[in-house]
Amino acid sequence: MSPPDEALILGIESSCDETAAAVVRGGREALSSVVHSQIAEHAEWGGVVPEIAGRSHLRAIVPAIEEALTEANCHPQDLSGIAVTTRPGLLGSLLVGVTAAKSLAWAWQKPLIPVHHIEAHAYAALMSVDHWEFPYITLVVSGGHTSLFRTESPLAHALLGTTRDDAAGEALDKAAAMLNLGYPGGPAIQKAATDGDPKAYAFKRPMLGPNSLEFSFSGMKTAILYKLKGPGGRREEPTLPESQNLPGMAASFEAAVMDTLIRKCLRAAQQYNIPRILVGGGVACNQRLRVDMASAAEKNGVQAIFARAEHCTDNAVMIAGLGYAHLQQHETADLLLDVAAS
Ligand code: KG4
Ligand code: ZN
Repeated sequence: MSPPDEALILGIESSCDETAAAVVRGGREALSSVVHSQIAEHAEWGGVVPEIAGRSHLRAIVPAIEEALTEANCHPQDLSGIAVTTRPGLLGSLLVGVTAAKSLAWAWQKPLIPVHHIEAHAYAALMSVDHWEFPYITLVVSGGHTSLFRTESPLAHALLGTTRDDAAGEALDKAAAMLNLGYPGGPAIQKAATDGDPKAYAFKRPMLGPNSLEFSFSGMKTAILYKLKGPGGRREEPTLPESQNLPGMAASFEAAVMDTLIRKCLRAAQQYNIPRILVGGGVACNQRLRVDMASAAEKNGVQAIFARAEHCTDNAVMIAGLGYAHLQQHETADLLLDVAAS
């Protein structure tokens, strides 16, 4: 028997540096969404420290779940299942969420539903569409991932291409660190770029051959490093010389990353003759990406669909939502459920 359309799923997410819990009705309607961000705890290190992340999840997980249930006015007996991210992510972090989910599933006698984090980012984009029209080309772009898929259903994604080195978000985070803009870099670069000229500095868009659907961002990272270190890498510390303009540099780098993403999405749409693109993941928050993708898609007769801004960075609404789709297919797990880094 399939779950009722009104089924309530509790979602739990702890794969990286956000402890999140949410209750979602029918795979669509978020009744609550609690996100405890660890950004402040990792900021002084310039990136996520796995040991700090695991301990912080441990402190935050129970209050986050309690808050999500209270906010949704939901009693444990109302739930049809408990969905949790099992992969990919930091093992010590994933284990906190999975252990909490197992304990509650056992105590409350509810189905335990394993969810793949990247598929959940794609589902977040599907949640912003009223009527699904499969297949889609899907771009999941975040701090850990940059991948293109051909999506046949919420549960079926065929990989078309991924990054050979850094994820787009990782490149933005590293460039922001070089520009002393702080962490996380994506929003910081967006802010610094607001009044900048995206043509102020030249950055190559790595296309990797005429038909490639793969990505590579490490060259762009080296390019900004050398722009900061001067010709031939003369300056010891990568700093922005006063003669150069920070908004222009931030805007040019941001535009190069977003342009590359847009071109690859349109290339995939054309190659597979699928005029619908879904975009999810933390970098999908980016304003330039949203605006430029919309206009480039329109010019090419393609529809670009973004996850809602609050569902782009890590959250548990997307976990509970995809959990509902799994439950409809009776895809549940027993208490031996394990986590995986990749
Ligand atoms: O999805 P997410 O929260 O975590 C992963 O699954 O990796 O994505 C985090 C990434 C970070 O690299 C962050 O810099 C980037 O998303 N990000 C942005 C923006 N907001 C977050 N990148 C560009 N523009 C933004 N507004
Ligand atoms: Zn994520």
